[in-house]
Amino acid sequence: MATFRKIGVLTSGGDAPGMNSAIRAVVRAALARGVEVVGICKGYTGLISGEIRPLTAAEVDPIASMGGTFLYSDRCPEFKTEEGMAKAIANCEKYEIDGIVTIGGDGTFRGATDISLRGIPTIGLPGTIDNDITATEVSIGYDTAMNTSVEMIDRLRDTCESHARCDVIEVMGRNAGYIALNVGIAVGATAVCMVEAPFKEEDIIEKMKKSRAEGKRNFLVVVSEGLVGYAEGLTKRIEEQTGIESRFARLAHVVRGGRPTLADRTLASVMGVEAVKLLLDGKSDLVVCQRDGKICTTEINYALKLDKLFKSKYAGYKKEDEEKLLAGFTDEQKAEMNEFCRKKLDAMLERYAIANAISK
Ligand code: ADP
Ligand code: F6P
Repeated sequence: MATFRKIGVLTSGGDAPGMNSAIRAVVRAALARGVEVVGICKGYTGLISGEIRPLTAAEVDPIASMGGTFLYSDRCPEFKTEEGMAKAIANCEKYEIDGIVTIGGDGTFRGATDISLRGIPTIGLPGTIDNDITATEVSIGYDTAMNTSVEMIDRLRDTCESHARCDVIEVMGRNAGYIALNVGIAVGATAVCMVEAPFKEEDIIEKMKKSRAEGKRNFLVVVSEGLVGYAEGLTKRIEEQTGIESRFARLAHVVRGGRPTLADRTLASVMGVEAVKLLLDGKSDLVVCQRDGKICTTEINYALKLDKLFKSKYAGYKKEDEEKLLAGFTDEQKAEMNEFCRKKLDAMLERYAIANAISK
């Protein structure tokens, strides 16, 4: 097993509140075990360009309460090329980096696997507001993004109530409707529209007409970003077909910034400590997850395949496409993965039904 003298930590892809707590935990946990830590700035961009510097325990002292990422983030197309990867590996050698903790989403994990295949152990932490890493119940940043969305939409309700209007609000979540679903329930939305759950626009319109006839003044409709371009058109159609004055709002990156919640800070801290432990135990190519409230790990390839399989459950993939996707896994693994995804989607749909059942 490699002797770890120095590890690197980086944040990559879309930033997420709580990433700073993860960085802090990695630094503190490694230093406590006599291992140096370097911060790799701007994700994989910094690994290629050599923007790498030692991190001290004192330096990460105040960062837990800060939004964004203290190490900065980037999307780095060059990293996907052989030349880019070669430069990154050369820098790992130059800076004597024995292992890396990568904090980001699925793209970041693909990059982490590529590094580990070239002999540098990596551990991934799920850092994305979208919560679209199927293998984990929660990702770092998700809780804060939901809470910020709720705060914004509560404000919109105030003005909807004053003016007897409808607001259609698009919330973030490129590949997943988790934010829309839970925020929709929390704010008491009339309807939630998301990719994973089938809905009929005419049902939403009819519900609004009925509720307006009963005297309801404010209406909120929460739409997931995954339904690209849908929310603005819906706003117009609601106004035309119900006669209720309607406005469109896109919360966008507002909910990706800001002070992380307690839940995100603690999740990130626990996961950060676990990542260091795993590296020092000689593990690599793993994602740290939370399942049934407990911290566990999954191989990165397994986690990436699980994401696609989950999508296949609502996007209607053909049986043979699912088979192709899972080629290389044992029958037992395939069965386990299929059951896991089916259960996860069922839980989502159950929650969607609850959202509808209590809305007006
Ligand atoms: P996220 O990690 O939030 O999903 P991205 O999909 O933008 O964000 O991925 C972050 C970065 O990870 C990319 O900019 C790129 O540098 C790296 N990456 C993404 N996909 C791959 C891949 N297939 N192989 C190697 N690196 C990748
Ligand atoms: O993955 C997080 C996320 O915020 C998505 O919800 C959103 O679609 C995307 O990133 C936005 O990316 P960018 O920051 O590149 O505009």
